[in-house]
Amino acid sequence: MGLKEQLQAWASEITAAPLNSAEEVEQFRIEWLGRKGRMKDVMAAFKEAPNEEKRELGKLINEFKQSIEARVASGAASGAEDSGSEKADHDWTRPAGGVPVGAHHPLSVVRRDIIGILERMGFVVSEGPEIEDDWHVFSGLNFPEEHPARDMQDTFFVDRAPDMLLRTHTSSVQVREMERRDPPMRIIMPGRVFRNEAISARAHCMFHQIEGLYIDKGVSFADLKQTLLRFAQEFFGADTRIRLRPSYFPFTEPSAEVDVYWGLETEVDKRITKGTGWLEILGCGMVDPAVLEASGIDSREYSGFAFGMGVERITMLKYQIGDLRAFFESDMRFLSQFEGEF
Ligand code: PHE
Repeated sequence: MGLKEQLQAWASEITAAPLNSAEEVEQFRIEWLGRKGRMKDVMAAFKEAPNEEKRELGKLINEFKQSIEARVASGAASGAEDSGSEKADHDWTRPAGGVPVGAHHPLSVVRRDIIGILERMGFVVSEGPEIEDDWHVFSGLNFPEEHPARDMQDTFFVDRAPDMLLRTHTSSVQVREMERRDPPMRIIMPGRVFRNEAISARAHCMFHQIEGLYIDKGVSFADLKQTLLRFAQEFFGADTRIRLRPSYFPFTEPSAEVDVYWGLETEVDKRITKGTGWLEILGCGMVDPAVLEASGIDSREYSGFAFGMGVERITMLKYQIGDLRAFFESDMRFLSQFEGEF
């Protein structure tokens, strides 16, 4: 058999070689291309061949070698890792595994639910900047010059711009809206806020609030109370009870904090409500006339109420989440628990 015929016979051997595992691929490679491999014999036979055949043979040998290399490469690429015996297990008709689908973040779910309830009551969403000036965060909201919230301990200031800071609450958007529009207005303002706090299970330097503002002729405290009761019943359940405790904010007068009745049945209820059965969900009040006037609204003609709630806080209540940090750690073991929440 001349070298040409010999090459043809080997070529079919090459295409038929079973390469089902990484070891088989490697064995095949060594057998043909290794230092003492069969390619060496091919080259030796080539040397002996008559000169007039060398041109044609050289071309054939080149193609032959390429076909060996191609088999090694495709065997390696197909990750011929599975041992030969596993091959029989491959059932190509088996249904494919599920494609993992993303889930909404619990904070997004709760923010969307809260906004949905308030939108059905006629509130319209509005947003404002996270980097704000002193006027919109403090002065326009009646914060006195020496108020502790203005302290560096609580507020992140922008080094290069002494008047600029990261908003510490979404109430800043109230001021922007009161300056921009004429009453009546009924708006909700969701957004991120920042406070210079050490990060712990209960506090974070960044969290989310949803602010509400309603200004019209003759808005009263009764309207505020009824709006919040309605909201709480939509969000927490139809028989939810609320209570208002007197409180203080520079921009509302009178001011209150709102609690929902959580119950005292279990040990957990007792612990999270500190034995009272009540849980605080938000701050609110009647917009201080001085705040209306500062934004150019006639306080003899108009009155209004405002409220602000923490989205993390409400989400923690709803899903019984014990540690605020879980929201920002992107841990799939936590996040995937909300896959069903759409
Ligand atoms: N801005 C207040 C806070 O961050 C909450 C609030 C909003 C209170 C609106 C009253 C009215 O604590």
